[in-house]
Amino acid sequence: MNLLIKNIKQLVTVASNGKSSKAGKEMRELSVIENAAVLIENGIIQHIDSTDELSTGSDIDVLDAGNRVALPGFVDSHTHTVFAGSRENEFSMRSEGKSYQDIARAGGGILSTMTATRAATKKELLRSAERRLNEMMRHGTTTAEIKSGYGLNAESETKILDVIHDLQRDHYMTIVPTFLGAHAFPPEFAEDKNGYVELITNKMLPHIGGRQLATFCDVFCDEGYFDLHQTEQILLEAKRYGLIPKVHSDQLAAIGGTELGVHLNAISVDHLEHLTTSGINVLKTSTTIATVLPGSSFFLNQPYAPARSIIEANIPLAVATDFNPGSSMTFSMPMMMTIACTQMRMTPEEAIASATLNGAAALGLSDEIGSIEVGKQADIVIYDVPNYAYIAYHYGINHVWKVIKNGTVLEF
Ligand code: NIG
Ligand code: FE
Repeated sequence: MNLLIKNIKQLVTVASNGKSSKAGKEMRELSVIENAAVLIENGIIQHIDSTDELSTGSDIDVLDAGNRVALPGFVDSHTHTVFAGSRENEFSMRSEGKSYQDIARAGGGILSTMTATRAATKKELLRSAERRLNEMMRHGTTTAEIKSGYGLNAESETKILDVIHDLQRDHYMTIVPTFLGAHAFPPEFAEDKNGYVELITNKMLPHIGGRQLATFCDVFCDEGYFDLHQTEQILLEAKRYGLIPKVHSDQLAAIGGTELGVHLNAISVDHLEHLTTSGINVLKTSTTIATVLPGSSFFLNQPYAPARSIIEANIPLAVATDFNPGSSMTFSMPMMMTIACTQMRMTPEEAIASATLNGAAALGLSDEIGSIEVGKQADIVIYDVPNYAYIAYHYGINHVWKVIKNGTVLEF
């Protein structure tokens, strides 16, 4: 039940001192403790001190970190983990110059994953998602948000949310469910887009809201997808059922999704590759988290979100993988940090803060997770590296040595 982790060369606490997220210059302050030890009781962090000060009682398991580096478990606040099939054919087409939108218009993209996901059984979806979550944990993620959005009808969206619910109950990962019925227009409604919006607001949301199958409701608000009016209709209705808004905004074009998200009190607006000065100014006045997804820009060869301008405007910024089969086929948060540092000019410190505490804030969970502080859940990952900057620096390999989830040392 109780665990003492000792001989931690660098304990990167990301302490927030009571704040729910870090913004601006605070993102570089990680509150690193050298030669540290952490005492955990019943999954909760009880004490943090130097190794010499924290002694061992008889009923305590001891994990000797052997002079390695410990960070809070990553909080991947934007993933599409439950899907069937894969899209390496599109990956090849993009290598030959086709764009994400060209492929979607030709019947590929989200709709091809929809077809595979509709055809899959609940059990198949559960098994593949479990394997993905295990792999995510091996790469240092201890909390993941998961969106529906590859069903695009009432039955299949519910099937996906049921799978997410089972994972939430049975998997070690902390999982937060998001309803993304508004991910694309399914073929049945190609000529009647508002008909699909009505299906979401009149049928799906009452069912999902009534059974509390999701914490958040997200909409892909972009050119060729859901317009501002449709996004507003869906999110207003979602709020009536207690779902908190999130928006996929400014990915392909700036159509005002970020501004609308802030207006509707979205907990986060995500993507932001085409974020404008107006978007930044509106975000500045709000508590909405700006979530950037470097993997999707990298994989689609599209512009990167203006992370520096967001940080300089004192807007709390989170980094997530956007794990999905089309635009970001990875669940590696360290890889996201590497891309954030090399392509978005973030520092390793900013990358760590945005992948931990600020990710937790984008899920409304930063009271419980996202930093290593007394009273918080003991989600701690130990890396076999000489210092924390090395994790993003030595990229493309997995440096994780041990994952401690809720005070339990996981065996892989
Ligand atoms: O976040 N932009 C919309 N949705 C996903 C891509 C989904 C897909 O291509 O399957 C994203 O990038
Ligand atoms: Fe996404």
